[in-house]
Amino acid sequence: MSIYQPAEDSYLMSRILKEKLPELLTKNPNLKFLEIGAGSGIHLETAKTLGVKNIFSSDIDKKSVNHCILLGFNCIQSDLFDQIPKEKFSIIIFNPPYLPEDSREPKDSKLATTGGKKGNEIILKFLQQAKNHLEKNGKIFLITSSLAKEINFEKFGYQYQEVGCESLFFERLCIWELSLKLT
Ligand SMILES: C[S@@+](CC[C@H](N)C(=O)[O-])C[C@H]1O[C@@H](n2cnc3c(N)ncnc32)[C@H](O)[C@@H]1O
Repeated sequence: MSIYQPAEDSYLMSRILKEKLPELLTKNPNLKFLEIGAGSGIHLETAKTLGVKNIFSSDIDKKSVNHCILLGFNCIQSDLFDQIPKEKFSIIIFNPPYLPEDSREPKDSKLATTGGKKGNEIILKFLQQAKNHLEKNGKIFLITSSLAKEINFEKFGYQYQEVGCESLFFERLCIWELSLKLT
């Protein structure tokens, strides 16, 4: 398994972070930022450049974890939130594996790209677990693809808003801003 190299999905996430983080930092200069699936660390670098002081990250892949640690970030190996401490974060981001299973996909890249049979299985698990780690007014930025089965965010207790999309040759990628539905 090699470290996922930034691609269109990564650049879409970078753009949204550059749009959203400055205002969020104005409201809360000490916000706690967590990336699940940090890969090459591209978003950790963006967050740091924008002035985020409390940056945490994880990846299921040990090579990515070691790479992000070498870049100077706090990064642990974890399957989604399994090893994430029981604390809450202000911002959680995830550019997940979101493609439906395809037997032609090389084993090497599968971990970073394939979300399950329908493509959304890892995202569904993420949504279930992320709630327990999000501050009351916290936000999640999550990528989905038109190639995967659609997700009902409300069913998981989130308010949702589409904040950026990119149409590629064969799919449409979107970033969702999610927050906890206040009851
Ligand atoms: C599409 S890549 C995104 C990498 C980077 N964040 C970016 O935007 O370029 C998905 C990343 O999630 C990691 N990943 C896959 N399944 C995971 C899981 N269950 N828990 C944590 N990370 C996971 C992969 O190893 C990979 O680094």
